[in-house]
Amino acid sequence: MELTHIEHLGIAVKSLEESIPYYENVLGLKCYAIEEVADQKVKTAFFKIGQTKIELLEPTSPESTIAGFLEKRGEGIHHMAFAVADGVANALAEVEEKGIRLIDKAPRRGAEGLDIAFLHPKSTKGVLTELCEPGK
Ligand code: CO
Repeated sequence: MELTHIEHLGIAVKSLEESIPYYENVLGLKCYAIEEVADQKVKTAFFKIGQTKIELLEPTSPESTIAGFLEKRGEGIHHMAFAVADGVANALAEVEEKGIRLIDKAPRRGAEGLDIAFLHPKSTKGVLTELCEPGK
């Protein structure tokens, strides 16, 4: 598998509205999109720095995994996403072969129409890891 860069960092926040001003007014980044991902019960706000995005994640339901994360750990980095050059499905097969526990057995559709899949943090040294294939 070939990873090319950190595609995005996912950051759990209680409120996009309260968090966006920090990224815009203090860090000087620009929120270029807000998108709801119904499948994951989150609303996301996107910023870009170089090739890497910052994706703020606000839960839209108490059943969202982000709601659970906020309750247990509070606001902060939720996951790291690597861009894969040669297909998420291939990468999943390869890491599974190496004994890594998968959350997603097959790629699914994430924000911005990316193919994404998560690896279990128990297998990845505590960092919830997402593999994704940038839009084509
Ligand atoms: Co993500």
